Amino acid sequence: MLLEIDKLSVSYGKAVALEDVSLRVAEGEFVAVLGPNGAGKSTLLKAISRAQPAIGKLEFRGESLHPFPAHAVVGKGICHCPEGRRLFPELTVLKNLMLGAYLRRDASAIAADLAVVYGLFPILQERVEQVVSTLSGGQQQMVAIGRALMGRPSLLLLDEPSVGIAHRLKIEIFDAIKRIQKGGTAILMAEQDAQSALRIADRVYVLEHGRIGREGSSAELGSDDYIRQAYLGVG
Ligand SMILES: Nc1ncnc2c1ncn2[C@@H]1O[C@H](COP(=O)(O)OP(=O)(O)OP(=O)(O)O)[C@@H](O)[C@H]1O
Ligand SMILES: [Mg+2]
Repeated sequence: MLLEIDKLSVSYGKAVALEDVSLRVAEGEFVAVLGPNGAGKSTLLKAISRAQPAIGKLEFRGESLHPFPAHAVVGKGICHCPEGRRLFPELTVLKNLMLGAYLRRDASAIAADLAVVYGLFPILQERVEQVVSTLSGGQQQMVAIGRALMGRPSLLLLDEPSVGIAHRLKIEIFDAIKRIQKGGTAILMAEQDAQSALRIADRVYVLEHGRIGREGSSAELGSDDYIRQAYLGVG
């Protein structure tokens, strides 16, 4: 198993944000985590990338991640595209992308990965010397995803990639994410847009109040009455 989480819990002081969460991601799989505001989605991704301490089983390729700091987790192949993008707005597109490769020394492979990012998001190649603050929200999200890809992840963590983005760009971004998976990268994506998540993910977990409620294939959850009512607004 690529990522295996069992009974994982996170607290902020006395407030419990995640409780006994169990979740798996197989090699190359696309898994989505659905849930409303405050459910614990970002906390879960931060726990995996070791930005937030957690207790419970947290294993990547059979090895516990607990002993490792965040930068070492990147080196193992887990790259996090965080909520709010966290770009450097006054730096160019290229400089922001290259920050994702900061642990790497393999110049020719880095150049090849830049070409992959430009293939996914051609607009970034056109804007490569432009400072990021002048891009649209959707284009900034492309930079954030591109930066995470520059770490050459085998597991890409995406935190609400579609939030605040115009409909047309949103479709483009979800299509690019699907192509990233087809290229062999496993994806764990937190998302509130249930319809899009169910369309592109293989499997889905529903996180509510820090706990996993339902889980199943996208097809199963897409026809589940509770999911249809609470997340798709139908039925
Ligand atoms: N740094 C923090 N300190 C204290 N409490 C926090 C902190 N970060 C998150 N929380 C709390 O933990 C819970 C889970 O928050 P989290 O950000 O993980 O939810 P989320 O599902 O990502 O929500 P959203 O969809 O709004 O991004 C919430 O109750 C939130 O208020
Ligand atoms: Mg969040």
